[in-house]
Amino acid sequence: MEPQAFIQALEQEIIQSEAVQHPFLLRFASDTLTPLQVQTFGLQHYQLVKVFINYMTNTLPRIPDKDAADLFRTVFDDEFGQHTIFRSHPALYRNFLKTVGLQEEAWGRVTLLPETSAFIQGHLQLTRESDFLYALGAIGPGHEFSIPTMFTYIVTGLKKNLSLSDEQIEYFTLHIEQDVGHAKVFNELICRHVQTEQGQARLREGALHSIALRKRFWDGINRVVFS
Ligand SMILES: [Fe+2]
Ligand SMILES: [Fe+2]
Repeated sequence: MEPQAFIQALEQEIIQSEAVQHPFLLRFASDTLTPLQVQTFGLQHYQLVKVFINYMTNTLPRIPDKDAADLFRTVFDDEFGQHTIFRSHPALYRNFLKTVGLQEEAWGRVTLLPETSAFIQGHLQLTRESDFLYALGAIGPGHEFSIPTMFTYIVTGLKKNLSLSDEQIEYFTLHIEQDVGHAKVFNELICRHVQTEQGQARLREGALHSIALRKRFWDGINRVVFS
């Protein structure tokens, strides 16, 4: 398969996956939610948000392409907040947590669900120890590509249940737009390394590993939010 066609097929597979169309997301978008349910979701999800950048810094040194750092630059700039830490993505998430009634100490004291820990440890390990192609699959198609679809469900639920301003849910709406561009950055890099069937298989394995961890993460969130 041509690299472009391969990527499109993989993206289709991901969009239709149980992780991206998870019952939790569908229910979050359609059910009546209490502030406590939104807080419970937010506290666990924040743990993923604050470590994401590590997956990229783990992977970057092992990518053979000389321009990889330049390509990653736009993604890093967005993550770090375009030169102001007050707009870093974790900072935007903390703004959201505050607006749903949480105090500073809440997100430092939260007990991680086993599924949340498994997601984080799994990604730290695969980005540290696997080959760069596997890691690119997990971060590119696995994260950047899938996030806009998943977050659209989240935004629908938030807007329906809480009277929050656009600014208060900026973390989510901004990712629905920015991650389309971030996925393109990853795909530009990926295209060069998926000319062969082996390359395509390896990339896909990494993406599906991430998607499996994501499914498990939503399983855990579903249990604590909707039980
Ligand atoms: Fe981000
Ligand atoms: Fe992103």
